[in-house]
Amino acid sequence: MTGPTRIIAGNWKMNGTGESLDEARAVAEALAQSPAAVRVALCPPATLIWRMKQALGAGPVEIGGQDCHAEREGAFTGDVSAEMLTDAGARLVILGHSERRALHGETDAVVSAKVLAALAAGLEPIICVGETLAEREAGQAEQVVERQLLGSLPEALAGQAFALAYEPVWAIGTGRVAEPADIGTMHAHIRAVLARHLGDSGDRAPILYGGSVKPSNAAETLSVAEVGGALVGGASLKATDFLGIIRAA
Ligand code: PGA
Repeated sequence: MTGPTRIIAGNWKMNGTGESLDEARAVAEALAQSPAAVRVALCPPATLIWRMKQALGAGPVEIGGQDCHAEREGAFTGDVSAEMLTDAGARLVILGHSERRALHGETDAVVSAKVLAALAAGLEPIICVGETLAEREAGQAEQVVERQLLGSLPEALAGQAFALAYEPVWAIGTGRVAEPADIGTMHAHIRAVLARHLGDSGDRAPILYGGSVKPSNAAETLSVAEVGGALVGGASLKATDFLGIIRAA
């Protein structure tokens, strides 16, 4: 079996206005001239999805959302449904990011319901898991991640396209990257849990690493066994940095 297709996905978080589309265009143009060996995606704020789709068209950069509501529609002021993301031009959606879990109280059950909504809308979810520093220091990292996996991944994912992202919370936005050996151990653990939980689909899903990935550490991180790409925050905001990571893959 060939390995899963690798994905380099940029998570712009709450950054970016119309001007930022120049960075997205620069990425797409560079990849049109010299195609990437991986799938490339950008996940801008919801306000930019439609504009980015217009700017990039059917080019080499796929577009994703950063979250969606679990319901299709209704009285949920401020929220965006999975169908709305698809309608705006997204193909993917990040779900269960640690910032959503910590700042918006998203539980595994909430993430699981969002995954079902994403699948129903035809979106490919990138589901995030990862332990806090306290949990790692207490020797509970693998246990915590396994619990998140089993709680956040509905069985309906079997047979569907999706990706996982392992993002140790203490490595996000801190400049601190996990050691390759620790990444390898965790990714192998995630693969085993996925395969047990979801069979073949669990065997196929790429497992991205996230947390302070930048051009200078991307090659080493991406060479670890079972690392099927990267989820990139800060370094995805500038085309040159993001392209540096894509070229390292
Ligand atoms: P970072 O963010 O690359 O800025 O650490 C990664 C993420 O939160 O997805």
